[in-house]
Amino acid sequence: MKTLAEIFEHTLKDVYFAENAITKALPKVAKAANSPELKKAAEEHLSETKDQIKKLEQVFKSIGKSASGEKCDAIEGLIKEADGLMKEAEGTALDAGLLAACQAVEHYEIARYGSLREWAKDLGHDEAHKLLSEILDQEKATNNKLTNLAVTSINKVSGRSKAA
Ligand SMILES: [Fe+2]
Repeated sequence: MKTLAEIFEHTLKDVYFAENAITKALPKVAKAANSPELKKAAEEHLSETKDQIKKLEQVFKSIGKSASGEKCDAIEGLIKEADGLMKEAEGTALDAGLLAACQAVEHYEIARYGSLREWAKDLGHDEAHKLLSEILDQEKATNNKLTNLAVTSINKVSGRSKAA
């Protein structure tokens, strides 16, 4: 790999792999969560993620490439951590931990899409720039939603059970 075009394509394959891995992990999160709000957030994010996969396929098409993934160690690590939590934690600790794990994934995605959309612009891939910016905005909105859920509900439940 030497050029910006090559790192762009490599990173696109990396997020394509990551989004597909996330669609497999989210149903497990929804199933394990105790909070109905967290379950709902995971289910909603699953349908949004499927939509993002379609958008990424459009990005590949717009640059004349076919969609394919490349193993992404970062997302595998984050998912592994969430899997461990599902085995080790329960009750409010599980919910607070799972929500935090989802936010770690969002932050990872925000970092990736932020770089990708700028590279697309630099490379003159206007359609890819537009689509990647749309996904970035969705990831930021999801992260904000999760923060809101943490501070208004999930973490407060933890606090109450600690006091009890
Ligand atoms: Fe995503």
